[in-house]
Amino acid sequence: MEALKGVRILDMTHVQAGPTCSQLLAWMGADVIKFEPPQGDATRGQLRDVPGADSLYFTMLNCNKRSITVNMKSAEGKKVFVDLLKKCDIMMENFGPGVLERLGFTWEKIHEINPKIVVGSIKGFGSSGPYADFKAYENVAQAMGGSMSTTGLHDGAPFVTGAQIGDSGTGLHLAIGLLAALHQAGRTGQGQYVEVAMMDGVMNLCRVKFRDHQRLTRQELGEYSVPTYQGMGDVPRAGNDSGGGQLGNAVHCKPHGPNDWIYVVVQEAVWEALAKRIGPEVHHPDLAADPDLAKIADRRRHQAKMWGLLGKFAERDTKREVMAILNEINVPCGPIMSTGDLADDEHVRGRQMYVELDHPQRGKWYNVGMPIKLSASPARIERSPLLGEHTDEVLKDVLGYDEATVAAMKAAGAFSLPPKKPA
Ligand SMILES: CC(C)(COP(=O)(O)OP(=O)(O)OC[C@H]1O[C@@H](n2cnc3c(N)ncnc32)[C@H](O)[C@@H]1OP(=O)(O)O)[C@@H](O)C(=O)NCCC(=O)NCCS
Repeated sequence: MEALKGVRILDMTHVQAGPTCSQLLAWMGADVIKFEPPQGDATRGQLRDVPGADSLYFTMLNCNKRSITVNMKSAEGKKVFVDLLKKCDIMMENFGPGVLERLGFTWEKIHEINPKIVVGSIKGFGSSGPYADFKAYENVAQAMGGSMSTTGLHDGAPFVTGAQIGDSGTGLHLAIGLLAALHQAGRTGQGQYVEVAMMDGVMNLCRVKFRDHQRLTRQELGEYSVPTYQGMGDVPRAGNDSGGGQLGNAVHCKPHGPNDWIYVVVQEAVWEALAKRIGPEVHHPDLAADPDLAKIADRRRHQAKMWGLLGKFAERDTKREVMAILNEINVPCGPIMSTGDLADDEHVRGRQMYVELDHPQRGKWYNVGMPIKLSASPARIERSPLLGEHTDEVLKDVLGYDEATVAAMKAAGAFSLPPKKPA
């Protein structure tokens, strides 16, 4: 049985941060009712690749959900919302600051309507503090949560990372909070307000950088390949340095294209074996006995020499060949996998991490699969819903409205935009 079978979620989230969370909960078996404005989640039409079809931006974040369109700015639409609140275990949103309150629904009001409901909210900066009123997108959160200032080259511009730590990362944090609050509501009968700020989520993911920030008050950061010194203040950008207790970096391989790299971690335990394997091939047969590189502290001091030798070793083979050689002697390493490499990878397909789906508007497409594997409740991935595909179904099956009520509400504009006023 699906782990979250019987849990119903009123999902008012849009764009990426919230939908990431509700898609995961849907993959764990929750009945997720995506509650959209009549024109739909804006991402349905963003970055479209098939004319007239829901974009991949939308389809990849909204699988296994039901879609209902409701105009929350009409009295009848608000009634549908209130009725759904009474039938759901979780309500979640990631509107801009103050949106839900402007619609007339504070947390206190929702709690009064259904004391057991758990409310999940994502904001750029939370509901308190000087930044609370600001909107946010992915890279704004990466900029303000510490990620950008610590990513990139030492003497270059700050960089964003391709992993969507501001949006999807925040969605993951929210999922954890919602499940904890749901568990508590099961015991106490009382729901609570679960808030995750994107900036907080990014800071959480940058935890080790704040470790280094504090270490800088007492010492240089010996493992960084860029210059650091006690009292320097800010943690510098350090390219591909490992950021951990072991030294690591990316090494270029044959045929030297943009993704022909392998990341190698020179773990203390494997140095001798590594040095014996590569030494003879880089004209340094006694590498394992070289005092410059004998211990981790020595290798930190002479990083450039060590990476130079590793680079020389790796340049004659492809990243996969280097991976095979290093795996044989137990050196932790990973080829830089491009999106193309991953889409075609046997391991990825075998773990159902790139799954083929069908869609009535766009035909065959792929989604990244479910990364959380429950042994008794494997995820079944189904396509995203069309806009309003389940409006009637939800009104009748979940809310128990009869045909005449649905027709009257439709006529009153509960599910559509009001006609445009003549200019
Ligand atoms: C992402 C974001 C910047 C988008 O901003 P936006 O497009 O202006 O959207 P907002 O959420 O601020 O506003 C949504 C509007 O749609 C309206 N709306 C939403 N659902 C509706 C419905 N079912 N019926 C009628 N109106 C609806 C809201 O009432 C609001 O209108 P208002 O401005 O008149 O109050 C903003 O939502 C935000 O900062 N969210 C929190 C942080 C976040 O999640 N960012 C990451 C996104 S991946």
